[in-house]
Amino acid sequence: MKKILITRRLLRSCEEKASESFDAKHNFNDELYSQDQLIKLSEGCDGILSSITDKIDEKTIYQLPKTIKIISNFAVGFGNIDLQAAKKRGIIVTNTPDVLTDATAEIGVLLILGACRRASEGIDSARKSNWRWSTDYLIGKQLTGSRLGILGMGRIGQKIARIAKSLGMIIHYHNRTKLNAEKENGAIYHNDIKSLFSESDVLSICCPSTKETQNLINKETLEYFPIGAVITNVARGDIVDDEALIEALKKKKIYAAGLDVYKNEPNLNPGYLKQKNIFILPHLGSATKETRIAMANLAIENIVEYFDTGSCKNKVN
Ligand code: GLV
Repeated sequence: MKKILITRRLLRSCEEKASESFDAKHNFNDELYSQDQLIKLSEGCDGILSSITDKIDEKTIYQLPKTIKIISNFAVGFGNIDLQAAKKRGIIVTNTPDVLTDATAEIGVLLILGACRRASEGIDSARKSNWRWSTDYLIGKQLTGSRLGILGMGRIGQKIARIAKSLGMIIHYHNRTKLNAEKENGAIYHNDIKSLFSESDVLSICCPSTKETQNLINKETLEYFPIGAVITNVARGDIVDDEALIEALKKKKIYAAGLDVYKNEPNLNPGYLKQKNIFILPHLGSATKETRIAMANLAIENIVEYFDTGSCKNKVN
Protein backbone atom coordinates (compact mmCIF):
# COMPACT_ATOMS: atom_id res chain seq x y z
CA MET A 1 0.00 0.00 0.00
CA LYS A 2 1.32 3.45 -0.90
CA LYS A 3 1.97 5.82 1.98
CA ILE A 4 0.48 9.31 1.58
CA LEU A 5 0.85 12.41 3.73
CA ILE A 6 -2.46 14.36 3.87
CA THR A 7 -1.54 17.85 5.00
CA ARG A 8 -4.98 19.11 6.11
CA ARG A 9 -8.17 17.57 7.49
CA LEU A 10 -10.66 16.28 4.93
CA LEU A 11 -14.35 15.71 5.62
CA ARG A 12 -14.68 12.49 7.64
CA SER A 13 -16.01 10.25 4.84
CA CYS A 14 -13.13 11.36 2.63
CA GLU A 15 -10.54 10.60 5.32
CA GLU A 16 -12.06 7.12 5.51
CA LYS A 17 -11.85 6.74 1.74
CA ALA A 18 -8.21 7.85 1.86
CA SER A 19 -7.44 5.27 4.55
CA GLU A 20 -9.05 2.56 2.42
CA SER A 21 -7.06 3.62 -0.64
CA PHE A 22 -3.63 3.98 0.95
CA ASP A 23 -1.64 4.05 4.16
CA ALA A 24 -2.74 7.59 4.97
CA LYS A 25 -0.91 9.85 7.39
CA HIS A 26 -3.69 12.22 8.51
CA ASN A 27 -3.53 15.61 10.22
CA PHE A 28 -6.43 15.18 12.66
CA ASN A 29 -5.63 18.44 14.46
CA ASP A 30 -5.67 20.29 11.13
CA GLU A 31 -2.39 21.97 12.03
CA LEU A 32 -0.84 24.29 9.44
CA TYR A 33 2.49 22.61 8.68
CA SER A 34 5.59 24.72 8.15
CA GLN A 35 7.73 23.80 5.16
CA ASP A 36 10.18 22.05 7.52
CA GLN A 37 7.37 20.02 9.09
CA LEU A 38 6.06 19.08 5.67
CA ILE A 39 9.48 17.84 4.61
CA LYS A 40 9.93 15.86 7.83
CA LEU A 41 6.44 14.37 7.80
CA SER A 42 6.91 13.24 4.18
CA GLU A 43 9.69 10.84 5.28
CA GLY A 44 8.81 7.35 4.07
CA CYS A 45 5.85 8.62 2.00
CA ASP A 46 5.17 8.03 -1.70
CA GLY A 47 3.01 11.09 -2.18
CA ILE A 48 1.46 14.17 -0.62
CA LEU A 49 -2.17 15.27 -0.72
CA SER A 50 -1.62 18.99 -0.27
CA SER A 51 -3.86 22.01 0.00
CA ILE A 52 -3.60 25.66 -1.03
CA THR A 53 -2.27 26.57 2.42
CA ASP A 54 0.93 24.57 1.73
CA LYS A 55 3.59 26.68 0.04
CA ILE A 56 5.57 24.03 -1.78
CA ASP A 57 8.27 26.16 -3.38
CA GLU A 58 11.46 25.15 -5.16
CA LYS A 59 13.51 24.90 -1.95
CA THR A 60 10.90 22.69 -0.30
CA ILE A 61 10.58 20.46 -3.38
CA TYR A 62 14.33 19.83 -3.43
CA GLN A 63 14.29 18.82 0.23
CA LEU A 64 11.42 16.36 -0.10
CA PRO A 65 12.39 12.69 0.27
CA LYS A 66 13.26 10.96 -3.01
CA THR A 67 10.34 8.58 -2.43
CA ILE A 68 7.75 11.34 -3.15
CA LYS A 69 6.37 10.80 -6.64
CA ILE A 70 3.15 12.82 -6.63
CA ILE A 71 1.72 15.96 -5.08
CA SER A 72 -2.05 15.87 -5.42
CA ASN A 73 -3.30 19.38 -4.71
CA PHE A 74 -6.75 19.72 -3.18
CA ALA A 75 -7.66 22.67 -5.44
CA VAL A 76 -8.11 23.61 -9.05
CA GLY A 77 -5.39 26.27 -8.64
CA PHE A 78 -1.78 25.23 -8.13
CA GLY A 79 0.07 28.52 -7.64
CA ASN A 80 1.17 27.23 -4.22
CA ILE A 81 3.43 24.64 -5.87
CA ASP A 82 6.52 25.20 -8.01
CA LEU A 83 5.51 23.03 -10.97
CA GLN A 84 8.81 23.26 -12.80
CA ALA A 85 10.88 22.32 -9.76
CA ALA A 86 8.55 19.38 -9.16
CA LYS A 87 8.92 18.29 -12.78
CA LYS A 88 12.70 18.47 -12.56
CA ARG A 89 12.57 16.28 -9.47
CA GLY A 90 10.29 13.79 -11.27
CA ILE A 91 7.28 14.59 -9.11
CA ILE A 92 3.92 14.92 -10.84
CA VAL A 93 1.48 17.55 -9.61
CA THR A 94 -2.28 17.11 -10.05
CA ASN A 95 -5.31 19.32 -9.37
CA THR A 96 -9.09 18.95 -8.99
CA PRO A 97 -10.73 20.67 -11.98
CA ASP A 98 -14.45 20.61 -12.89
CA VAL A 99 -15.81 19.53 -9.53
CA LEU A 100 -15.59 23.00 -8.00
CA THR A 101 -16.76 25.01 -10.99
CA ASP A 102 -20.36 25.45 -9.85
CA ALA A 103 -19.60 26.34 -6.23
CA THR A 104 -16.86 28.79 -7.17
CA ALA A 105 -18.98 30.43 -9.86
CA GLU A 106 -21.75 30.90 -7.29
CA ILE A 107 -19.32 32.82 -5.07
CA GLY A 108 -18.11 34.75 -8.14
CA VAL A 109 -21.69 35.90 -8.74
CA LEU A 110 -22.17 36.68 -5.06
CA LEU A 111 -19.12 38.96 -5.21
CA ILE A 112 -20.59 40.79 -8.20
CA LEU A 113 -23.97 41.20 -6.50
CA GLY A 114 -22.49 42.06 -3.11
CA ALA A 115 -20.12 44.70 -4.46
CA CYS A 116 -22.58 46.27 -6.91
CA ARG A 117 -25.53 46.33 -4.51
CA ARG A 118 -23.55 47.51 -1.45
CA ALA A 119 -24.30 44.38 0.55
CA SER A 120 -21.64 45.00 3.24
CA GLU A 121 -23.02 48.43 4.10
CA GLY A 122 -26.56 47.05 3.97
CA ILE A 123 -25.81 44.12 6.28
CA ASP A 124 -24.02 46.41 8.68
CA SER A 125 -26.94 48.84 8.87
CA ALA A 126 -29.56 46.10 9.12
CA ARG A 127 -27.67 44.53 12.04
CA LYS A 128 -27.39 47.87 13.81
CA SER A 129 -31.02 48.78 13.03
CA ASN A 130 -29.82 52.29 12.30
CA TRP A 131 -31.37 52.74 8.87
CA ARG A 132 -34.42 54.43 7.49
CA TRP A 133 -35.84 53.57 4.07
CA SER A 134 -35.76 56.44 1.61
CA THR A 135 -35.67 56.69 -2.16
CA ASP A 136 -31.93 57.33 -2.26
CA TYR A 137 -30.84 55.05 0.58
CA LEU A 138 -27.88 52.76 -0.27
CA ILE A 139 -28.40 53.07 -3.96
CA GLY A 140 -26.16 50.64 -5.79
CA LYS A 141 -25.33 49.62 -9.31
CA GLN A 142 -27.86 47.61 -11.28
CA LEU A 143 -26.53 44.49 -12.96
CA THR A 144 -29.20 44.30 -15.65
CA GLY A 145 -27.86 46.00 -18.77
CA SER A 146 -24.30 46.39 -17.37
CA ARG A 147 -21.25 44.99 -19.10
CA LEU A 148 -19.46 42.18 -17.29
CA GLY A 149 -15.82 41.62 -18.26
CA ILE A 150 -14.50 38.16 -17.53
CA LEU A 151 -10.76 37.83 -17.24
CA GLY A 152 -10.03 34.15 -17.86
CA MET A 153 -12.87 32.33 -19.58
CA GLY A 154 -12.17 28.81 -18.32
CA ARG A 155 -14.82 26.63 -16.73
CA ILE A 156 -15.50 29.01 -13.83
CA GLY A 157 -15.52 32.10 -16.05
CA GLN A 158 -17.95 30.42 -18.45
CA LYS A 159 -20.31 29.44 -15.65
CA ILE A 160 -20.26 32.97 -14.19
CA ALA A 161 -20.94 34.28 -17.71
CA ARG A 162 -24.02 32.04 -18.05
CA ILE A 163 -25.48 33.14 -14.72
CA ALA A 164 -24.66 36.81 -15.32
CA LYS A 165 -26.23 36.62 -18.76
CA SER A 166 -29.43 35.32 -17.20
CA LEU A 167 -29.34 38.43 -14.98
CA GLY A 168 -29.29 40.60 -18.09
CA MET A 169 -25.58 41.42 -18.13
CA ILE A 170 -23.70 41.79 -21.40
CA ILE A 171 -20.66 39.54 -21.37
CA HIS A 172 -17.20 40.49 -22.60
CA TYR A 173 -14.10 38.39 -22.01
CA HIS A 174 -10.37 38.02 -22.47
CA ASN A 175 -8.67 34.68 -22.60
CA ARG A 176 -5.36 33.46 -24.00
CA THR A 177 -7.35 31.91 -26.84
CA LYS A 178 -10.72 32.82 -28.28
CA LEU A 179 -13.37 30.23 -27.45
CA ASN A 180 -15.55 28.46 -29.97
CA ALA A 181 -19.07 29.82 -30.49
CA GLU A 182 -20.71 27.27 -28.21
CA LYS A 183 -18.46 28.09 -25.27
CA GLU A 184 -18.58 31.79 -26.02
CA ASN A 185 -22.38 31.71 -25.77
CA GLY A 186 -22.68 35.22 -27.22
CA ALA A 187 -19.83 36.76 -25.18
CA ILE A 188 -17.65 39.36 -26.91
CA TYR A 189 -13.96 38.49 -27.20
CA HIS A 190 -11.15 41.02 -26.57
CA ASN A 191 -7.64 39.99 -27.46
CA ASP A 192 -6.00 42.26 -24.93
CA ILE A 193 -6.78 43.37 -21.41
CA LYS A 194 -6.80 47.07 -22.23
CA SER A 195 -9.65 46.53 -24.63
CA LEU A 196 -11.53 44.28 -22.15
CA PHE A 197 -11.08 46.57 -19.16
CA SER A 198 -12.21 49.66 -21.07
CA GLU A 199 -15.54 47.89 -21.81
CA SER A 200 -16.07 46.47 -18.30
CA ASP A 201 -18.56 48.07 -15.93
CA VAL A 202 -17.84 45.07 -13.72
CA LEU A 203 -14.82 42.78 -13.88
CA SER A 204 -14.74 39.19 -12.68
CA ILE A 205 -11.20 37.85 -12.29
CA CYS A 206 -11.26 34.12 -13.01
CA CYS A 207 -7.79 33.46 -14.45
CA PRO A 208 -5.09 31.32 -12.84
CA SER A 209 -2.23 32.88 -10.92
CA THR A 210 0.88 32.69 -13.08
CA LYS A 211 4.00 34.83 -13.52
CA GLU A 212 2.12 36.67 -16.29
CA THR A 213 -1.01 37.40 -14.25
CA GLN A 214 0.66 38.50 -11.01
CA ASN A 215 -0.32 42.11 -10.21
CA LEU A 216 -2.14 42.32 -13.53
CA ILE A 217 -4.59 44.67 -11.82
CA ASN A 218 -2.26 47.55 -11.01
CA LYS A 219 -2.03 51.34 -11.05
CA GLU A 220 -1.66 51.46 -14.82
CA THR A 221 -4.28 48.87 -15.79
CA LEU A 222 -6.84 50.31 -13.34
CA GLU A 223 -6.76 53.45 -15.50
CA TYR A 224 -8.20 51.46 -18.42
CA PHE A 225 -11.57 50.98 -16.66
CA PRO A 226 -14.52 53.32 -17.02
CA ILE A 227 -14.93 55.58 -13.97
CA GLY A 228 -17.04 53.80 -11.38
CA ALA A 229 -16.27 50.23 -12.50
CA VAL A 230 -16.50 47.35 -10.04
CA ILE A 231 -13.70 44.79 -9.64
CA THR A 232 -14.29 41.30 -8.28
CA ASN A 233 -11.80 38.49 -7.71
CA VAL A 234 -12.70 34.84 -7.20
CA ALA A 235 -9.35 33.52 -8.49
CA ARG A 236 -6.16 34.36 -6.57
CA GLY A 237 -5.07 37.36 -4.50
CA ASP A 238 -1.72 37.84 -6.17
CA ILE A 239 -3.39 38.92 -9.42
CA VAL A 240 -4.24 42.24 -7.74
CA ASP A 241 -1.83 44.95 -6.59
CA ASP A 242 -3.65 45.74 -3.34
CA GLU A 243 -2.23 49.22 -2.81
CA ALA A 244 -3.28 50.28 -6.31
CA LEU A 245 -6.81 48.91 -5.89
CA ILE A 246 -7.22 50.51 -2.45
CA GLU A 247 -6.10 53.85 -3.87
CA ALA A 248 -8.58 53.54 -6.76
CA LEU A 249 -11.37 52.66 -4.28
CA LYS A 250 -10.48 55.70 -2.17
CA LYS A 251 -10.57 57.97 -5.19
CA LYS A 252 -13.85 56.36 -6.38
CA LYS A 253 -12.23 55.61 -9.72
CA ILE A 254 -13.34 52.12 -8.77
CA TYR A 255 -16.84 52.14 -7.28
CA ALA A 256 -16.50 48.92 -5.28
CA ALA A 257 -14.57 45.66 -5.02
CA GLY A 258 -15.79 42.15 -4.26
CA LEU A 259 -13.01 39.86 -3.04
CA ASP A 260 -12.81 36.24 -1.95
CA VAL A 261 -9.05 35.79 -2.28
CA TYR A 262 -6.07 37.79 -1.04
CA LYS A 263 -2.31 38.02 -0.98
CA ASN A 264 -0.99 36.58 2.31
CA GLU A 265 -4.29 34.95 3.27
CA PRO A 266 -5.73 35.14 5.88
CA ASN A 267 -4.12 38.53 6.52
CA LEU A 268 -5.66 40.83 3.97
CA ASN A 269 -4.20 44.25 3.40
CA PRO A 270 -5.56 46.41 6.27
CA GLY A 271 -6.19 49.21 3.75
CA TYR A 272 -9.21 47.24 2.47
CA LEU A 273 -10.81 47.23 5.91
CA LYS A 274 -10.87 51.03 5.99
CA GLN A 275 -13.03 51.08 2.83
CA LYS A 276 -16.81 50.88 3.01
CA ASN A 277 -17.07 50.05 -0.67
CA ILE A 278 -15.82 46.49 -0.43
CA PHE A 279 -17.61 43.19 -0.13
CA ILE A 280 -15.20 40.62 1.27
CA LEU A 281 -15.36 36.90 1.94
CA PRO A 282 -12.79 34.50 3.47
CA HIS A 283 -11.88 32.33 0.44
CA LEU A 284 -15.21 30.50 0.28
CA GLY A 285 -15.11 29.68 -3.46
CA SER A 286 -15.35 25.91 -3.18
CA ALA A 287 -16.83 25.79 0.32
CA THR A 288 -19.91 23.61 -0.04
CA LYS A 289 -20.18 20.10 1.35
CA GLU A 290 -20.84 18.52 -2.05
CA THR A 291 -17.89 20.26 -3.61
CA ARG A 292 -15.42 19.62 -0.80
CA ILE A 293 -16.32 15.91 -0.88
CA ALA A 294 -15.94 15.80 -4.67
CA MET A 295 -12.59 17.62 -4.47
CA ALA A 296 -11.20 15.26 -1.82
CA ASN A 297 -12.40 12.21 -3.70
CA LEU A 298 -10.80 13.47 -6.90
CA ALA A 299 -7.53 14.31 -5.12
CA ILE A 300 -7.50 10.74 -3.76
CA GLU A 301 -8.43 9.24 -7.16
CA ASN A 302 -5.64 11.21 -8.84
CA ILE A 303 -3.11 9.46 -6.58
CA VAL A 304 -4.67 6.04 -7.13
CA GLU A 305 -4.73 6.60 -10.92
CA TYR A 306 -1.11 7.66 -10.95
CA PHE A 307 0.15 4.65 -9.00
CA ASP A 308 -2.07 2.27 -11.03
CA THR A 309 -1.23 3.61 -14.50
CA GLY A 310 1.93 5.72 -14.21
CA SER A 311 0.02 8.82 -15.31
CA CYS A 312 -2.97 10.94 -14.37
CA LYS A 313 -5.48 12.90 -16.47
CA ASN A 314 -5.34 15.79 -14.01
CA LYS A 315 -1.56 16.19 -14.18
CA VAL A 316 -0.61 19.88 -14.45
CA ASN A 317 3.19 19.77 -14.87
C1 GLV B 1 -9.54 27.12 -4.58
O1 GLV B 1 -9.23 28.24 -4.39
C2 GLV B 1 -9.02 26.28 -5.60
O2 GLV B 1 -8.13 26.67 -6.37
O3 GLV B 1 -9.47 25.14 -5.67
